[in-house]
Amino acid sequence: MIQTTLFGDRYKIHQFPRTQYLGSKEKHIKWILETAPKDIKTVFDAFSGTSVVGYYFKDKGYKVYGNDFLKCNYLITKALVENPNIILDKNDIKILLDENAKADNLIEKVFTGVFFERDQAKFLDKFRANVEKLDNEYKKALALALMNRSLTRKITLGHFAHLKAIEYSKNPDRIKRNASLTKHLKDIFQSLVHSYNNAIFDNKKTNKAFCENTISLISKLKDVDLVYFDPPYCGCHPDYQAFYHFLETYAQYWKDKKFINGTKAYYPKKKSGFVQKTEIENSFQKLFENSQHIPYWLISYNSKSYPEKNKMIELIKQFKKVEVYEQEYFNHYGGKGSRKGTSEYLFYCYN
Ligand SMILES: C[S@@+](CC[C@H](N)C(=O)[O-])C[C@H]1O[C@@H](n2cnc3c(N)ncnc32)[C@H](O)[C@@H]1O
Repeated sequence: MIQTTLFGDRYKIHQFPRTQYLGSKEKHIKWILETAPKDIKTVFDAFSGTSVVGYYFKDKGYKVYGNDFLKCNYLITKALVENPNIILDKNDIKILLDENAKADNLIEKVFTGVFFERDQAKFLDKFRANVEKLDNEYKKALALALMNRSLTRKITLGHFAHLKAIEYSKNPDRIKRNASLTKHLKDIFQSLVHSYNNAIFDNKKTNKAFCENTISLISKLKDVDLVYFDPPYCGCHPDYQAFYHFLETYAQYWKDKKFINGTKAYYPKKKSGFVQKTEIENSFQKLFENSQHIPYWLISYNSKSYPEKNKMIELIKQFKKVEVYEQEYFNHYGGKGSRKGTSEYLFYCYN
């Protein structure tokens, strides 16, 4: 989707870079924007993931808050939603790709032979050290968001819950389908810089990124008119830390975690509240209780999730009136929750 927005006498053409993330709503943006109420000023994208939804609300001219409990996702909101105008220039790229940097060796030590050969792991350690040399928080966020996207391009299936990355990067059939598997991360990164720089624009609002648990954060946000909830779909790959642990490790550059099992996922994990069937109803109950002060809620959900639709309506009706909109998937894309025959719901909730 290409957007042309008029601010004062100046056009700025911008487009959100293509996403590859379980549960990304890139393909539902138009539907979400059309369904959203219009008598609003401030929108909270409360489980932001790629930030594609918050970004297009920003494009509509609203003030946007975005939150995700993973730092790797918070950095995208910081770089593309909160950031009004800071881009990575040639000198920044030179700093980031300096191979003479002194660096720690977390990635080389833990992940060589897991997702990468040694040379790529070492490159990642140096790049990570170079990020800290940038003199601006938006540049840092942009650099890490870009490298994390380069990583999901390079690694087969775009996630880190499998151990096929190195094997598949040598498989001619796989390479034919995705040439990035054999590319150097430096080259993938450089090929993406323009699209990320180009996505940055100023909508003249004080947008803000958060990295907290939504259940506790939401009661602190007093001026929100619409909250968009897109929590993990329990029953369809809800454990984002199992799939994207490497991106979080890279963003955090953990010093105080264990790395366990074959994929070397960090341990202990952060608490989501939306992963186990046993916790999910209680989490929605608390989330809705804490969101009562917000006049409109828009909730993404699907027909394969637990608890099922009628239970969700019951939970919502304690606090709001609700209308349910539905779209069926006709093609398979993006994981277990988006198979042909699955329906995607939008719960439109109001006072
Ligand atoms: C379905 S995805 C959101 C996708 C997003 N709307 C998009 O279009 O890319 C759910 C997100 O919720 C985040 N998450 C899970 N539990 C959370 C919690 N308790 N608080 C904040 N974020 C959470 C996950 O990290 C994940 O990115």
